Amino acid sequence: MYNIAVYPGSFDPITYGHIDLLERGLKIFDRIIIAIAANPGKSPLFTIDERCEMIRQSLIDHPEGERVTVDVFHGLLVDYVQSVPARAVLRGMRAISDFEYEFQMALMNRKLNADVETLFIMTGMRWIYISSRIIKEVVMSGGSVTGLVPPIVEKMLADRLSHHNNSLY
Ligand code: PNS
Repeated sequence: MYNIAVYPGSFDPITYGHIDLLERGLKIFDRIIIAIAANPGKSPLFTIDERCEMIRQSLIDHPEGERVTVDVFHGLLVDYVQSVPARAVLRGMRAISDFEYEFQMALMNRKLNADVETLFIMTGMRWIYISSRIIKEVVMSGGSVTGLVPPIVEKMLADRLSHHNNSLY
């Protein structure tokens, strides 16, 4: 039996912070499913298909890539986790600012299904200040995110945000 974890999120778009977390998770789990939430209640910059494609392209040459699957889920995360079935939900914790939101989500998920455990891994120090939101903000304001996101993401951001004048919030 494989130890499988679900790594859920919006991934709008994936960053090197996400990939760092994935790599840490792969030291613990045999397989990780990156699960993009189809209805996270946000208005994403990229479509689900674009986000899937960026993740796949970002991991195409990764030495552990064959242990990672990219999927999309609808509805409740705990239902998806049980349908896999997976052992745990993997989430990153950057700093104190992440704690309240993550704590609330983990406790709600436990209330919804006590069999699903959430495992937190501290984000690598190198990536502690980056998030998908701040990456989009920087690109939208004309800044460079080279070295913070995979090249495919950098290109997709440049293509999208050079034609995008709306607020991201
Ligand atoms: O990357 P994000 O946006 O912080 O990820 C949040 C996500 C997608 C993990 C969370 O919104 C989620 O699990 N959504 C699915 C709906 C659900 O199960 N909600 C109840 C738990 S809060």
